[in-house]
Amino acid sequence: MPYHNEPTIDYGVAEHRDKLLAALEQVKAEFGKTYPLYIGGKQITTDTTLKSVNPAKHAEIIGHVSQAHQAHIDAAVMAANEAFSSWSQTTFEERAMYLVKAAAVIRRRKAELMAWQIYESGKNWDEADGDVNEAIDFLEFYARQAIELGKGKELVPYPGEDNRMVYLPLGVGAVIPPWNFPLAILTGTTVAALVTGNTVILKPSPLSSVMAAKFVEIMNEIRLPAGVLNFVPGPPEEIGDYMVAHKDVRFISFTGSKTTGLHIDETAHRVSEGQRWIKRVIAEMGGKDGIVVDETADVEAAASAIVAAAFAFQGQKCSAGSRAIIHEDVYDEVVEKVVAKAKVLQVGAPAENAAVGPVIDEKSFAKVTKYIEIGKQEARLVLGGTADDKVGYFVQPTIFADAKPDARIMQEEIFGPVLAICKVKSFEEGIDVFNNTEYGLTGAVFTRERARLEYARRYMMCGNLYFNRKCTGSLVGIQPFGGFNMSGTDAKAGSGDYLLNFVQPKTVTEQF
Ligand code: NAD
Ligand code: ALA
Repeated sequence: MPYHNEPTIDYGVAEHRDKLLAALEQVKAEFGKTYPLYIGGKQITTDTTLKSVNPAKHAEIIGHVSQAHQAHIDAAVMAANEAFSSWSQTTFEERAMYLVKAAAVIRRRKAELMAWQIYESGKNWDEADGDVNEAIDFLEFYARQAIELGKGKELVPYPGEDNRMVYLPLGVGAVIPPWNFPLAILTGTTVAALVTGNTVILKPSPLSSVMAAKFVEIMNEIRLPAGVLNFVPGPPEEIGDYMVAHKDVRFISFTGSKTTGLHIDETAHRVSEGQRWIKRVIAEMGGKDGIVVDETADVEAAASAIVAAAFAFQGQKCSAGSRAIIHEDVYDEVVEKVVAKAKVLQVGAPAENAAVGPVIDEKSFAKVTKYIEIGKQEARLVLGGTADDKVGYFVQPTIFADAKPDARIMQEEIFGPVLAICKVKSFEEGIDVFNNTEYGLTGAVFTRERARLEYARRYMMCGNLYFNRKCTGSLVGIQPFGGFNMSGTDAKAGSGDYLLNFVQPKTVTEQF
């Protein structure tokens, strides 16, 4: 069947709502279980486990996750290396079938998987729906892209010679995803490596490792051969550098913050004793994304987009529009509308489908509230500014107006429900302010002027640019995703080119 995006579900419909409510109950009854590592097809339960908790109710334990140590990394890399000899010889079609089957299992278990991340990651229903859909999309899309890649590349004919170029896998990859798209990014990055014939050691974020364990459960359910996918959740400070620097790891596929990404990049490019290749690093990192609104814009639509991009999932998306850059002629009107729309967002438990849930953990709560204090010094607080971590890590949607372009709240990734608004005198100045960060992930422009859209198309420096809509919510295959500069290597997840990151082309010439 041709690829299409998985449809979103309307939870206003009783049948869908009831199914999700039942899944939320069922998953709750499974809280507190212990999840093992998987190495070479074997489950390993370790002495040390990590508690994964509900950020909306931090006393509530979701599960206990076994923790890998360095010896487990050695064992996982060895198992992946052994499995590589047979897995790398399977065809692209064979491997693609595993992805299609995994997509079918996820589709069947969708309500349950949503429930796990509603509890573990603090996503509300729509956000969880989007994340699980995106995981399915990655599986279906990369399966089809792999089959195309397996056909090789058409070359220019040359008399008397048979020339062919085919794509070979690289070897053992370390896949290191973040917590904020707990199923989607983990699935996309892992299966892109697998479908191209590589084997993987997967180290999830400690903050979403129950969701990761569920993914591994599904890959076992579809009977992925032993050793092809090895699951090693563990403390990053102990196993992170060790796995990245491991001489038998051929590539690292990382998604996360700029600080960790740069550190991984540096570690990976120091050659370890016995290493026989230059490691490939895919590093998709943070953002300081924004929306530019000019004086001709539909201000109502712009205000709705600004609020959605800034506060959905509590601003914890790499694509979150944490800056709004507004032309002075419509500034007061837009600020007023944005504040009015954000004011009515209900803050509360994701299980009850509140619009704004908790931030992910204590560390994030401390970081976001620190930035709120910084913002109070740098700009004018027009909404929120308060937070409460007694039960869960809740931060009120917070808006600062009159922020200067160089203010820290305009420059640094906060990763929470905090929006900085800046006034500009012209559209062109707005684009300059937008470009004035070290990042370059997503951006949006609201204008009715065609010439200005074309100006933005040319000069706005970001990997994903949107006209007259919000800057979040890219769809697999439709808006390939990835950023410039300190936002990463721009590998463009969900594009036809993405799988090329995981292969090495080989040209064979036969003279006859
Ligand atoms: P993070 O950098 O803290 O962690 C990301 C992953 O790296 C986790 O699995 C973590 O355990 C691991 N890690 C930490 N130290 C390591 C080390 N020394 N060696 C190996 N692994 C290590 O990021 P996070 O808090 O999980 O995610 C949020 C960040 O991710 C934000 O900056 C966000 O913008 C970014 N992000 C980017 C994209 C994108 O596509 N560009 C998508 C989602 C999130
Ligand atoms: N791909 C996600 C978005 O666009 C991060 O919001």
